[in-house]
Amino acid sequence: MALPDVSSRTDPAAPDWRDGVTYQIYPRSFADHDGDGTGDLPGIIDHLDHFGRDGLAIDAIWLSPIYPSPGRDLGYDVSDHTTVDPLLGTDDDFDRLVAECHRRGIKVILDLVMNHTSDEHPWFLASKKSREGPYADFYLWRDPSGWDADGHPRPPNNWVSFFGGPGWEWVPERGQFYYHTFLVGQPELNWRNPLLEDAQWDMVRGWLDRGVDGFRLDVFNAFLKDPELRSNPVIEGDSPWGRQEHRYDIDQPDFPELIERFRAIVDEQPGRMTIGELFSRETELAARYARDHHIVFDWSMMESPWTAEAFGASIDRRERAFGPKLWPTVALSNHDRERQATRLSASVGRDRDPDHDAIAKAAAVLILTQRGSPFLYYGEEVGMVDVDIPRDEIVDPPALRAGPDFPWYDRSRCRTPMQWGTGPGAGFTTGRPWLRLAPDAATRNVETQMRDPDSVLACYRRLLDFRRDSEPLRRGSMERLDAGVPDVLAWTRDAGGRRLLVLVSFVGEPRTVDLAAVAGDGRWTARVGSHRVPAEPDAGGRLSLRPDEAVVLEAASG
Ligand code: GLC
Repeated sequence: MALPDVSSRTDPAAPDWRDGVTYQIYPRSFADHDGDGTGDLPGIIDHLDHFGRDGLAIDAIWLSPIYPSPGRDLGYDVSDHTTVDPLLGTDDDFDRLVAECHRRGIKVILDLVMNHTSDEHPWFLASKKSREGPYADFYLWRDPSGWDADGHPRPPNNWVSFFGGPGWEWVPERGQFYYHTFLVGQPELNWRNPLLEDAQWDMVRGWLDRGVDGFRLDVFNAFLKDPELRSNPVIEGDSPWGRQEHRYDIDQPDFPELIERFRAIVDEQPGRMTIGELFSRETELAARYARDHHIVFDWSMMESPWTAEAFGASIDRRERAFGPKLWPTVALSNHDRERQATRLSASVGRDRDPDHDAIAKAAAVLILTQRGSPFLYYGEEVGMVDVDIPRDEIVDPPALRAGPDFPWYDRSRCRTPMQWGTGPGAGFTTGRPWLRLAPDAATRNVETQMRDPDSVLACYRRLLDFRRDSEPLRRGSMERLDAGVPDVLAWTRDAGGRRLLVLVSFVGEPRTVDLAAVAGDGRWTARVGSHRVPAEPDAGGRLSLRPDEAVVLEAASG
C-alpha cells in the first residue's frame, strides 16, 4: 500500500500534546445531573474537580459520541453530527463544558463517527427515497447481483456485518441494497462521493471552531471501500466476519490520502490532535497510519493476559512496529472491551488467587510509564470491574445475537455507571440508573478511595502527579531490558539527562532483582510505584518486589 510522503511536514518540535494522558468518558455512564438516570454533559461539568491539579492529573478528556442518536448503538449511530443529543444536554452545555475544561487546562476530544450514520439521519432519509437528488450517492447503494427463484433480490457481494448477519439491506423504495458494516441502522457512507467528503469536512471545521482540541476517529480505516465492491476472499475463521479476508471492505490503497486530507484540516488550527481507531487490524498497520500527533490505537495490549511474557511481547511488537520516530498509544480498556481489572485478574491461572487491586495498581504503572500516549477508561482509576448483566437488561445489540457461530463480548458489562460515592445511585444519579450499577459500588468508589492512601485511586493520583513533571515519562525514549528473573519486566525511559528504570512484577510472590545486572552500575532511588511506599533497593543494589509490585526508579545524576 502506497503511503503519501508526509516527511516534509514532520516537525518534531511542533507544539502538540501527544505526551498527555487522555481519560475516556462514556457520557451516558459518567454522571447524571438532571436525575433521569442517564449521564449528561452538565454531570461531567459537576465532576471536573475529579481532574486537574487537585485531582487526577490528566491532560484531556475524550467524550464517546454526544450527538443526537436513536441510540441503537448507543450514540455510535448518529442522526446529526453537528449538535448535542438532548438526552445529554444542549449546545450551551457543550460550550460550557469546553470552557470549563480549558479553564482547568484540560483538552477536549470528540468522537467522530464518520464511517456511517444512523438510518434516521436526514441524509439517509433523503437518500433512500430516490436515486436522484443531492444525497442520492451519500451511501453505498448497489443493485442486486440477481434474483433468486422466489423473486428475492441477491446481495451485490459476500460482505457481512461485523455485528453479525448479512452486510446488505434491501430497500424496496429505492430498489437497491445499502451496505452496513455494523447495525442495519448504521448505513455506510460513500466516501468516494466528493460531496459527502465536503459535508464531513464542514462538520469537522464547525467543531474545531467551537474549540475542540482533537478527535477520536471511529473505525477510520473502514471509510473507503473497493470502488468495484468486489467480494472478499473466503478463509478459515470462527465467525462470519472472521471467515473473510477483508481485502475490499477496509484498508483501501487510497485511504492514506483521504486521511491526510482530514489531518490537514485539523492542522489548520495549531495544537490539535487526532487518534484513529484501527478497526479489525494489527499493530503494524496502526504504525503505518500514524504520523506525528495524528496517532493511532493498536490493540495488542488489550488482549494480553497478566504475564510478563505476554506484555513483554506486546511491548516489543509495538516498539518494533512504531520504531523510535512514530508515537504509539497505550490503552488497556475502552467501551468495547472487558475492563482491565476484570480481564487481568481473570487471566492469572488457577494456581493463584489474584489480588485484584494489586494487579490494577501495577497495571496503572504499566500504562503510565511506557512510551506513548496513555488512554484511561472512566472508572479504571478505582479498579472498576465488569458487571454481569441479565439478558433482559443487555444494551449492546450484537450481544443479543451471540451464539456458537458469533462469539461476542457483551459491551454492556464494561459500560456501567461510574462509582462516585456510597449513597444510593452511587453518586451517579438520584434516579434509576439506565444500566445497573456494579454490586461493589457501595465499597469501590471515588469517595471511599479518596480517604485511603493505599487505594487504586491514590495510586493513579500519585503516578499521574509524578508523570506530569517527568520529562522521561512524557517524551523519553524507551529501552526494554532483561530483568534477570522470571515474571518481571524492565525498561528504561530517558530524556534530558534523566533516566528512569521501570520494573513490573506479574506474579503473586516476591521477586528480587539485581539492579546492576539489569541496568548497569549506578545508584537507583525509588520514586513512585504501585505501592504507597515503593520498594527501595538495598545497599547492594538488590530490589525486593512484593507480589504484583511495580516500581519506577530514578538514576542518581553524576
Ligand atoms: C467503534 C466503536 C464501537 C461502535 C462501532 C461502530 O468500534 O468503538 O463502540 O459500536 O465503532 O460505530
